Amino acid sequence: MSLTFDLHRRSDPASDERRAEILANPGFGVHFTDHMASATWSKDGDWHSARVHPYGPITLMPSAAVLHYAQEVFEGLKAYRHEDGSIWSFRPEANAERMQRSARRLALPELPTEDFLASLRALVDADRAWVPAAGTGETSLYLRPFMYASEAFLGVRPANEVTYSVIASPAGAYFPRGLKPVTLWISEHYARAGAGGTGAAKTGGNYASSLAGQLEGTEHGCDQAVFLDSATQTTIEELGGMNLFFVTDDGRLVTPELTGTILEGVTRSSILELAKDLGLEPEERRIRIEEWKQGVADGTIREIFACGTAAVVTPVGELRWDGGAAPSTAGEEGGEVTRSIRRALLDIQYGRAEDTRGWLTRLA
Ligand code: COI
Repeated sequence: MSLTFDLHRRSDPASDERRAEILANPGFGVHFTDHMASATWSKDGDWHSARVHPYGPITLMPSAAVLHYAQEVFEGLKAYRHEDGSIWSFRPEANAERMQRSARRLALPELPTEDFLASLRALVDADRAWVPAAGTGETSLYLRPFMYASEAFLGVRPANEVTYSVIASPAGAYFPRGLKPVTLWISEHYARAGAGGTGAAKTGGNYASSLAGQLEGTEHGCDQAVFLDSATQTTIEELGGMNLFFVTDDGRLVTPELTGTILEGVTRSSILELAKDLGLEPEERRIRIEEWKQGVADGTIREIFACGTAAVVTPVGELRWDGGAAPSTAGEEGGEVTRSIRRALLDIQYGRAEDTRGWLTRLA
């Protein structure tokens, strides 16, 4: 039987003035709506206690397994307001299915797609005033579903009690500098994931393991780090929070193939599908880091961009490593292909272009 998320409304929601102030300049991941949705799973009772309740601190025992063994998965997707006031999400079923795959890898229970969608609908319905108005640029309501081992137990085994929640955060552009290309650092000392590990799952540990490489990049004046395969340190994987694409001089749109260590981004797979509409030949294959350096030098690589739900499509500029750099091909605001892919996605998401693939799902 599917879950019903009963609404327990908070008695002290943000005032209209405070909400308007936040929505005028939301930033990314800083402000949260009045409510959250949750459900609990017990080994013997399946999913239960589904509810929408006031956003606030969660109570966990210090022995909760997630705090020790990182048994946790999460998702990221957005709610977009269209001109007529309706609220939509982009391929949320794909996020539900990825969360199920991530859960299997982390030995967590799977939340059925219909319950995942019901949790989003219930929360967005309760907090619909927090979804930014249409036509305010790139603003949306970022939804962050997550699931963790809440059982108080220190033995190393899959938890018998698990909590699922969704929180919501009004969001502007992920990179406040807009389309200004990001500079990347090659993380040569730190890998993000390895064969047989959790790299393809959306789990906090992958993000934690990307931070040292990210920090190294920041210390070298870069915005983000690019991670290589852990076995040979020669092929390009991803940025930790975003996938990478290369536009070649002969009209191909190339991205690293999924090897089990790369996250299968919803934006990544949507771009691969959109490529043909834009006259590009999509290609998933191994890409050597030397190919990047060489391609930028000889002109066979025309544009490079990163993509993800939070940042949509972001131009990539210079590549740096210990002792060298490959120049940017991105100009001030990214190349033409980068910008047209970005526009095509945003136009579908905000209802400005026809949704010919049925990618939009109405939330409210
Ligand atoms: C997303 O793009 O939604 C991500 O998950 C990236 C990051 C904010 C963790």
